[in-house]
Amino acid sequence: MNIVEVKNLTKYFPIEKGILFRSVVGHVKAVDGISFSIPEGETLGLVGESGSGKSTVGNMILRLLRPTSGDIIYRGKTILNFSRAEERAFHSKAQMVFQNPFASLNPRMIVGDIIGRVLRVQNPSLKREQVQERVLHSLEEVGLKREHMTRYPHEFSGGQRQRIAIARALISDPEFLVLDEPTSALDVSVQAQILNLFKEIQNSRNLSYLFISHNLSVIRHISHSVAVMYLGNLMEYCSREELFASPLHPYTQALLRSIPKPFVTGEDISDKIIKGDIPSPINPPTGCRFNTRCPLADDDCRSVRPEWREIRAGHWIACCKARA
Ligand SMILES: Nc1ncnc2c1ncn2[C@@H]1O[C@H](COP(=O)(O)OP(=O)(O)O)[C@@H](O)[C@H]1O
Ligand SMILES: [Mg+2]
Repeated sequence: MNIVEVKNLTKYFPIEKGILFRSVVGHVKAVDGISFSIPEGETLGLVGESGSGKSTVGNMILRLLRPTSGDIIYRGKTILNFSRAEERAFHSKAQMVFQNPFASLNPRMIVGDIIGRVLRVQNPSLKREQVQERVLHSLEEVGLKREHMTRYPHEFSGGQRQRIAIARALISDPEFLVLDEPTSALDVSVQAQILNLFKEIQNSRNLSYLFISHNLSVIRHISHSVAVMYLGNLMEYCSREELFASPLHPYTQALLRSIPKPFVTGEDISDKIIKGDIPSPINPPTGCRFNTRCPLADDDCRSVRPEWREIRAGHWIACCKARA
């Protein structure tokens, strides 16, 4: 059973010009026709260089951005025309954890109030003691203690602040989390602890994750399946085992070669050499979007957008040159 299905999802941001009379002069094609699904209780890793459209995908799934076209299905139902009541229910079931916990935690509130506020908004009839009890429970679940409730965000380390953000996401008892680069701002040693925490919580609560990262080592650690994104398109999508054992797309192969050995988490794939710069999503290359950097590219690749095809059972790819 899939908790989330994304079908041919597209987001074009209009580029406007003019002061009094604004006119649309072009579009940023941030996400351009992608499809994937997330089985219940699993993690889909969405990986790609900075600017490839990952956050835009996550924001659309949580209804923070409206798609230009395509559909998002949550538990069998499109999220695009929810009623008020369905929307409210969805907002407690689907939560986000961001990259920078400092920016997302109010510096003037103590931790107990930051987390408790979510509950009070959702359920105003709860008594103060009930809120306190649940806040404490969710702090303990992420490895924090009762005495942390009365402290301010600046009194914590980066890893602890991310734990607070996770506790806040958990307090509404969600089923699905979008984790947008949730460890990218942390020291390498702390990253592994937070990744393990995400795994523990997933197992104990049967949570489903969309885990967004530019870092393949992190993606490998946490994901059940992986979707590789480039300039608004998916290049390859399959199980974690298959992606790392037998990548078939030239872009995925280049990304994997760029991971330093031995494995070092925290390495940025965009620092590493894939020849050439990433083109602009305003004027993306015609045909295959990777053709300007691909060693296999020929005239076909420059003119025809490759078909999204299942090259092996459960292994999807957008490349006409790749062989199973
Ligand atoms: N609100 C917006 N308006 C215009 N362009 C945007 C907006 N949000 C993102 N973009 C552009 O869309 C592209 C994808 O951005 P994003 O989804 O943030 O990528 P990623 O998360 O993979 O780094 C980028 O070129 C970015 O500049
Ligand atoms: Mg992003």
